[in-house]
Amino acid sequence: MSDMSVTICGVTLKNPVIAASGTFGYGMEYNEFYPISRLGGVSCKGTTLKERLGNPPPRIAETCAGILNSVGLQNPGLDSFISTYLPWLKKQDTAVIANIAGSTVEEYCEIAERLSGTDVDIIELNISCPNVKQGGVSFGTSCESVAKVTSEVKKRSAKPVMVKLTPNVTDIGDIAKAAEDAGADALSLINTITGMRIDIKTRRPVLRNNTGGLSGPAVFPVAVRMVHEVYKRVNIPVVGMGGITKWEDAAEMMIAGASAVQVGTANFRDPFACIRIIEGLERFAASLGLKSIAELTGTVLEW
Ligand SMILES: Cc1cc2nc3c(=O)[nH]c(=O)nc-3n(C[C@H](O)[C@H](O)[C@H](O)COP(=O)(O)O)c2cc1C
Repeated sequence: MSDMSVTICGVTLKNPVIAASGTFGYGMEYNEFYPISRLGGVSCKGTTLKERLGNPPPRIAETCAGILNSVGLQNPGLDSFISTYLPWLKKQDTAVIANIAGSTVEEYCEIAERLSGTDVDIIELNISCPNVKQGGVSFGTSCESVAKVTSEVKKRSAKPVMVKLTPNVTDIGDIAKAAEDAGADALSLINTITGMRIDIKTRRPVLRNNTGGLSGPAVFPVAVRMVHEVYKRVNIPVVGMGGITKWEDAAEMMIAGASAVQVGTANFRDPFACIRIIEGLERFAASLGLKSIAELTGTVLEW
């Protein structure tokens, strides 16, 4: 069998498959289906300084080959994360990625500083949530604000910082470079693509928030293109996500340039999605005679 471990920003994951933020809670429910210690890591629901109830419903709608969500960062807040969820997760023998969000740079910094004193493995800076009025994606759409929030958080964080990018920009390569130059240890992408659906009878948008973020298989080709573009622009590891549903998608994302992958929406349809992907990658790597799954990363042969 090939070595399935990968190392991103100094943290070794037992395999390259991470459950994506906001689609896996803290792993407690999924742990009833399989031991989440099988995963390379878990990226927790976006954590803010204070508890948030999120946006009013309806806030999830099915679309062709995907879902549109406007959950709006519902979470129990930093104190609960540290006192209740993190201790449980740390016992599960998988890497813990704390996905954090704020409405000001100072809020991001405060969360990062407090997490520095915990045994979180990586901080994932969510500057790409399209569903909150303040903060979120507004930090992720200009090179200046990406550089500012990244460099300030880096000053206050003792943990590796992985910056999560939004696809809702003109040139994701420029944004990625700005994050790298500001000190990011790794990048993850893509967050959801802003979308909208309308009920033709009522003429009301199907989501109460009017717009939401599109995820699932519908976004996969966009994600592969962006991961590849970013891979070519930066020298830090790239964690790829967006529409990965089966092991072939994960392999494709790695070939495009990802050192590891995250799996989100697929977990809703099949709670065993991550396990099937890990097992498929194991078979694929062995069939190619790879010493290490990491040998796949960035091996696309462009025309
Ligand atoms: C219901 C839902 C909630 C999400 N919440 C978060 C979040 O809190 N923080 C974050 O960075 N991304 C969040 N995301 C985005 C996912 O982590 C991921 O970037 C995106 O869905 C694309 O991957 P996928 O197609 O595999 O789901 C959320 C996605 C969904 C569907």
